[in-house]
Amino acid sequence: MNKNTEELYASQLDNQDPLASFRERFIIADPNLIYLDGNSLGRLPKDTIPHLQNLIEEQWGKGLIEGWNKGWFEMPTVLGSRIAKLIGARDDEVVVCDTTSVNLFKLAVAALRYQAGKKVLLSDEFNFPTDLYVFQGVIDLLDDGHKLDLIRSEDSISISEENINNAITEDTALVALTQVAFKSAFMYDIQKVTELAHKQGALAMWDLCHSVGAVPLELNEWDVDLAVGCTYKYLNGGPGSPAFLYVRKDLQKELSPPIWGWFADKAPFAFNLDFTPADSISRYQISTPHILSMAGIEPALEILLEAGMDQLREKSIMQTDYLIYLAQELLIPLGFEIGSPLDSSQRGSHVSLRHPEAYRICRALIDPQPGDTNLKVIPDFRAPNNIRLGIAPLYTSFTDIHRALKRIKTIVEDGIFQNYSKEQLKVT
Ligand SMILES: Cc1ncc(COP(=O)(O)O)c(C=O)c1O
Repeated sequence: MNKNTEELYASQLDNQDPLASFRERFIIADPNLIYLDGNSLGRLPKDTIPHLQNLIEEQWGKGLIEGWNKGWFEMPTVLGSRIAKLIGARDDEVVVCDTTSVNLFKLAVAALRYQAGKKVLLSDEFNFPTDLYVFQGVIDLLDDGHKLDLIRSEDSISISEENINNAITEDTALVALTQVAFKSAFMYDIQKVTELAHKQGALAMWDLCHSVGAVPLELNEWDVDLAVGCTYKYLNGGPGSPAFLYVRKDLQKELSPPIWGWFADKAPFAFNLDFTPADSISRYQISTPHILSMAGIEPALEILLEAGMDQLREKSIMQTDYLIYLAQELLIPLGFEIGSPLDSSQRGSHVSLRHPEAYRICRALIDPQPGDTNLKVIPDFRAPNNIRLGIAPLYTSFTDIHRALKRIKTIVEDGIFQNYSKEQLKVT
């Protein structure tokens, strides 16, 4: 059957999908809710429920403080070694701790101090605001003549190789970029950019929030120095689950993170008066791990490892290509623009559709009025005009994509969005 805009075609793609059964491993409470926001907060895996129940009732409830000697103390590095498998790192190069922002702070300070004499922290105008705010704060704190330079985009969707080349100079101390841009989904070639950074004596730090669990990563092979990422998007760890950080093995003892908490010490329970940093990745922790919010990462990770990143990426590309095809057929005639790269090798696992009424269209998708439809679609709105549609290949179906795009078409064609207020909610 040739590519077409019929729902039957979408269901045929689902029937041929070798990963289709993974959807059943997640709680899908409402079949009429199409969830295209797994790139903000992943769905709840069914296995997470008994796992957390056991942690609360048995380990905490009955075992009490003994839990620390029965796995809690090692949880950050044990889970780190599982994430290492997803990102192509050694088992002892990743630790789960803190938040992405805090980890960015710790690693940026450590890197800039290590690179004494070089004064530029290079990022780009696509970066997530928290990254840029943290970098501005780090420069203010160090008060040592550093500056933040931003690589610019020519088309608001991608960053050209020429602009990257021109931006990295011998004064660059640290290249700190998010691999997959949160609005457009533009995806950097980590290996290429890291190599350019190294040629100029710069370190490279990657924010993998929109990559991990969505695209295959080979941090060791690509010679990456530093990385951070979150676990609540494609890793499905749960709302506010802790972040992770990666430091290349041979750099671990070279860098000194700025917060000397007791969990970074060589022997936290020796209670020494003076700090002696651990020689391992533990030096990058700060304090008591958030066991309850960390534990949910484990069962979720197992599902991803079982599915395999290469297979997930293959499905993700098919799905984002299909979404773009439907948008071109159904929505471009209604005034939409595609706000993501058309070339899948430069695109992560989400697609942004731009429309001047994007906010009200999103509201109409999320909150249908009585008598309109029982179909609810959850995207993200990203200012000023992006409807961001996230594809989580573990549980997003081709039929989901088809139904969502048809619904967007109806909302615009029938002027349904006009029934909604332009006033924006706090969280969009
Ligand atoms: C690319 C990127 N970096 C950082 C963050 C924020 O991370 P946190 O709130 O865990 O500090 C996000 C959140 O969505 C993000 O998308």
